Amino acid sequence: MTHLDTPVAPTYDPEAPRIPALELRDLNLSFGGIRALEHIDFKVYSHEIVALVGENAAGKSTLAKVVSGVYRPTSGTILRDGMEVSITSPSVATRLGIATVFQDLALANNLDVVANMFLGHERNRANVLSSDEMETEAKSVLDEIGARIPSVRYPCENLSAGQRQSVAIARTLLAKPKIVVLDEPTSSLSITQTAEVLDLIVRMRRLGHGIVLISHNLADVQAVADRIVVMRHGRIIGESPMSDVTYEDIVAAITGAIQSLPAPVTTRGTRVVGASVA
Ligand SMILES: Nc1ncnc2c1ncn2[C@@H]1O[C@H](COP(=O)(O)OP(=O)(O)O)[C@@H](O)[C@H]1O
Ligand SMILES: [Mg+2]
Repeated sequence: MTHLDTPVAPTYDPEAPRIPALELRDLNLSFGGIRALEHIDFKVYSHEIVALVGENAAGKSTLAKVVSGVYRPTSGTILRDGMEVSITSPSVATRLGIATVFQDLALANNLDVVANMFLGHERNRANVLSSDEMETEAKSVLDEIGARIPSVRYPCENLSAGQRQSVAIARTLLAKPKIVVLDEPTSSLSITQTAEVLDLIVRMRRLGHGIVLISHNLADVQAVADRIVVMRHGRIIGESPMSDVTYEDIVAAITGAIQSLPAPVTTRGTRVVGASVA
């Protein structure tokens, strides 16, 4: 059983003149007639966990696929460390230091952990690294993030869902990314496995990664995120430092009960939550 390292120092300072590791400006994406992303302004800094939340079909995975080079935006600007970039393919995203762990982890269950971590890198790595060297490198990345894997020579089908998620995350770290996007990393995990994966995400922040944590689980995101961004119908409808919003604020923004985040403040200084203020 693991636990979150506490206290977790907040790393988000809205006053600091820092350049985002990754920024999207007025980004739009349509699939035929469907406007999947509209006027998206989004940032993530290094040493920061940004939670991206919203109902099903809000556009979260689509945003992840844009920054990982799977989808090309219809219009808009993407900046990496303040420099304009075009993420034209997944390999360009990797070269730009952006790694994504998608909802389906794409692990080969019959292969062991080491083979899975180097899968797809055979051409430029396996020819250079021996099997022992790959094993050493795999272990070192898994150790660095505190992943608990009984043996890196186990086939992935013998691992728990939490361990498989850890392997999928560790695999992306081999490319030494600056930004890591995690799409619903805890959605199919037990409470213990969730705690382990959240612990690993906190360690990644400490290592300096900028992390985009897409999640349905508000308890998870409240436990670890520095900032929260809420999407609804393809738009970002609000964002806030996590410490400034309540669980109820977040639910109200996700469901459309309020039209922005943080929740509007009444003249008496109390939050308007659960009421339509459109
Ligand atoms: N390849 C695609 N072609 C057409 N529509 C798509 C495609 N991918 C996503 N969409 C649509 O974009 C919207 C956002 O989907 P998605 O990003 O998967 O939402 P979320 O991850 O927030 O649940 C949905 O209406 C979905 O049907
Ligand atoms: Mg999704």
